[in-house]
Amino acid sequence: MQSHLPQLAPLRRECKLPETKTDLRIRGKFQRGKPVEFTFDGITVNAFEGESIATALLAADIVSTKLSVDGYPRGPVCHMGSCQECAVRIGGRKTLACKTKVSQGLQVEIDGLKK
Ligand code: FES
Repeated sequence: MQSHLPQLAPLRRECKLPETKTDLRIRGKFQRGKPVEFTFDGITVNAFEGESIATALLAADIVSTKLSVDGYPRGPVCHMGSCQECAVRIGGRKTLACKTKVSQGLQVEIDGLKK
C-alpha cells in the first residue's frame, strides 16, 4: 500500500538557508544581552545572551527544530515547555529549545532522523 504522505526532505535542506543574515527581532529600545553565535545543524546563528534557542532560531527565520517520525518538519509552538515540538539535540542529548538559553559556541542539532 502506498503512503498518502508526501516524501519530504528535512526543512533545513529545503530552505537552503545561508549563514543567517536575517534578523526578525522587533527593533526599538530593548536592552539585549551580549551578542553570541551558535550553530544549528551547521548553520551559524546570531543571537543575544538571555534568548532561548527557539527565539534565536525564529529571529533567524528558522522555524523547524525537529523532524517527526514520518520526516515532517516540526517546530516551536507553545514557547513554555508544554508541547515538546521544539526538541533539539545538544551533545547528543534531547532538550527543549524554548527552555534552553543560547551561549557562545553552542552546537545545536536538529532532532529526529535525518534522511
Ligand atoms: S515550544 Fe513547546 S515545548 Fe518548546
